[in-house]
Amino acid sequence: MAKDPDKILSEVEDKLKFLSLLGVEFVSRESSVVSLEETILNCQKCPLAQTRTQAVPGEGNLNAQLMFIGEAPGRDEDIQGRPFVGRAGQLLTKIIHAMTFQRDEVYITNIVKCRPPGNRNPQGNEITSCKDYLLAQIEQIDPKVIVTLGKVAADFFIRSSLGMTALRGDFYDFDNLKVMPTFHPSYLIRNEGNKTLKKMVWEDMKKVMAFLGKK
Ligand code: URA
Repeated sequence: MAKDPDKILSEVEDKLKFLSLLGVEFVSRESSVVSLEETILNCQKCPLAQTRTQAVPGEGNLNAQLMFIGEAPGRDEDIQGRPFVGRAGQLLTKIIHAMTFQRDEVYITNIVKCRPPGNRNPQGNEITSCKDYLLAQIEQIDPKVIVTLGKVAADFFIRSSLGMTALRGDFYDFDNLKVMPTFHPSYLIRNEGNKTLKKMVWEDMKKVMAFLGKK
């Protein structure tokens, strides 16, 4: 005979009460992401906190299968508090659309969450200070694939002395997920006439789409 639904519910409630008495906490993915974002927004761990307008934690779908990781916020991102909203961001958005995704279907963030002055590369101590935030974001979102944009982001995940041209185009393992390194959109913009670069990025993105079962 089927069990009474009210009885099942009351048994589940009893179990949850028992577990919470033991100190087990039930936190939704959304609330833990929000509290991580708040921690990032208030972070004072490195000197970039003194020069930023605001930290830029990241944005997108908290259940995303695909995560894009850039280097660090630039001027526009520092002002708006959102990742990839300047010129490079517009190009990234076009790439995302070409992959038949919307921006809000993927998750976008950076290795370092605060703008380095003058858009210089983030330094080792800044990357180290920010490292746990990124690792926590990856754990919370649990994507299937990470696309790293540019050498700084690739270096975080892949131990290699190869340059971007040799590195890109292959998947690398990082824990239980795949990392696809590709060129940074700013590099494509700086080399606007270089059709080969664009083609390479598109080849990389097609591999990601195929891996995710996208046509
Ligand atoms: N470049 C990056 O690496 N990240 C941004 O958010 C914007 C530009």
